[in-house]
Amino acid sequence: MRAIAVSEYGATPAPTHLPRPEPGPGEILVKMIAAGLNPVDWKIADGMLKDSVEARFPLILGQDGAGVVEAVGAGVTRLRHGEQVYGMFRDVERGIGSYAEYALAAEDGPVARMPAGMIYTQAAAVPTACGTAMAMVDEAELDTGQTVLIVGATGGVGQALVQLAALTGAKVIATARDDMAGTIRRLGADETVDHSGGDLNDQVLRVHGDGIDAILDVVSDAQGTERLAQLLRPGGTYVSTTWSVNPDVMEAQGHRGVNHIGAPSAEMLDRLSDLIDAGELRVMVEREVPLEAAGDALADNRAGGARGKTVIRI
Ligand SMILES: NC(=O)c1ccc[n+]([C@@H]2O[C@H](COP(=O)([O-])OP(=O)(O)OC[C@H]3O[C@@H](n4cnc5c(N)ncnc54)[C@H](OP(=O)(O)O)[C@@H]3O)[C@@H](O)[C@H]2O)c1
Repeated sequence: MRAIAVSEYGATPAPTHLPRPEPGPGEILVKMIAAGLNPVDWKIADGMLKDSVEARFPLILGQDGAGVVEAVGAGVTRLRHGEQVYGMFRDVERGIGSYAEYALAAEDGPVARMPAGMIYTQAAAVPTACGTAMAMVDEAELDTGQTVLIVGATGGVGQALVQLAALTGAKVIATARDDMAGTIRRLGADETVDHSGGDLNDQVLRVHGDGIDAILDVVSDAQGTERLAQLLRPGGTYVSTTWSVNPDVMEAQGHRGVNHIGAPSAEMLDRLSDLIDAGELRVMVEREVPLEAAGDALADNRAGGARGKTVIRI
């Protein structure tokens, strides 16, 4: 089968021919139609997991995807041959990922039936970005009347954060360069602040002099987080996907700090499907590329400037 893989950590992702994997007990084999690109894909290729997981090489990249169940292993009862599914297909220890013609998933893992009406390229864009956003909004316990700042709002996770935070009734301030401000407001932001146009703290304080209640941040480092946390009112919450929060320091300052750990599940995919079906969550696919161009698309994502999701057509 065709796949995009790295021969070792740090190598350039390249088209490769590899044997089709076989589903073991409790596993499904999926013929992939589309794979969703996430920053974690190039981070793993760079070696993000090298101290925690024994990877198998060639390592196929990618975790998100959508396709059709081709075969099921012994004991599989929830999903059947021919069903359209989407979810997460990463198994670094076995060298398996979603940038391939076939991938495996555990039946009890984060994989679910695609809702009727969802197309493969859209479904592949959902799991990591929207699942992360949903978990972050849950973690922040946002409520009507609160004000939340979303940092990194124009990318995959950020666009879902804007919509899900707005659904809670909270007032949403989101970062966006000028060209994206209108789009981000249409997704549900009440206000935008341009992170390329001056200090974020100054911009937020100009309108919200007494501070804000929560910050959902997908881009800042520890130093940036320390500064942004000064915007929080007493008892505020800071949730980060980049592990930039020091929870002890936050607590000493009277805030709650959370570094998000992904724990995706089929139930979460079903919750997301319901919101997408109801028109309450939209996923913007910014770009579709063929499998052979996945390496270039990863390089582009690393360079920054994402305006939605990139999806790989397989
Ligand atoms: N911990 C977890 O479980 C978990 C889960 C999902 C994602 N993540 C991480 O979260 C991060 C975001 O993921 P993603 O999929 O949303 O990435 P993405 O689609 O590449 O989007 C990143 C966005 O951030 C914007 N941005 C960059 N620097 C910024 C700044 N200083 N202020 C405000 N916005 C800025 C970018 O726009 P401009 O370049 O135009 O500024 C871009 O739109 C990645 O590092 C990813 O690995 C972690």
